[in-house]
Amino acid sequence: MKILVTAGPTREAIDAVRFLSNKSTGKMGYAVAKAAAEAGHDVILVSGPVALTQSDGLLEFVPVVSAADMAEAVKLRAPDCGMIVMCAAVADYTPAHPVDRKLKKTGGNLTLELKRTEDILKTLGQQKKPGQILVGFAAETDDVEAYARGKLAAKNLDWIAANDVSRPGCGFAADTNALTLYAADGRKFELPLQGKDEVARRMLEILLPSPR
Ligand code: CTP
Repeated sequence: MKILVTAGPTREAIDAVRFLSNKSTGKMGYAVAKAAAEAGHDVILVSGPVALTQSDGLLEFVPVVSAADMAEAVKLRAPDCGMIVMCAAVADYTPAHPVDRKLKKTGGNLTLELKRTEDILKTLGQQKKPGQILVGFAAETDDVEAYARGKLAAKNLDWIAANDVSRPGCGFAADTNALTLYAADGRKFELPLQGKDEVARRMLEILLPSPR
């Protein structure tokens, strides 16, 4: 199966030398891409800027910077993918008026106006092909199940992998993770705290249980 995985943060330009981003390291997304390639799938990895080495055996590696770049790269490739796993921590807001030179400081404060980015996963949910499996991630600190199931329904997903990022060992930069997978048909699977590679393997076994 052709599987598209996104990973890492995005960077939203404020000016020529500054950006807004987040703490995502890309480790979970890279682990999912690696596990899928090792299971024999054709994997496209669309990655924001991270300090990781690209896995071997990918069909395609697409480096991107901003949420808009990621949206373009994903939407171009999504129609012929059997499964799309959106692990990336895509920025929800981007500076409304980025400047192409370096901003100089003044004596006063600076107010940045931010505008919403496209919700890539929501767009994919609206354009879902028959049989395509759409998987989102939800990083939450409270009411994990309610928020995760809300996103699953709102974005027309088949699965959502919820991460309680307030739990020790489950943060952005950790090498371990614990996930709960919620399916659109109501099923729920708990993946206990373990290495991100193992979490990724277990997750794929649940998402794609039958032989290819
Ligand atoms: N996502 C996306 N495009 C965006 C933002 C997020 O595709 N512009 C995807 C992420 O890759 C992830 C899921 O949507 O799979 C996260 O859902 P979201 O509702 O955006 O979560 P949060 O950003 O945590 O939102 P909130 O602050 O409302 O909890």
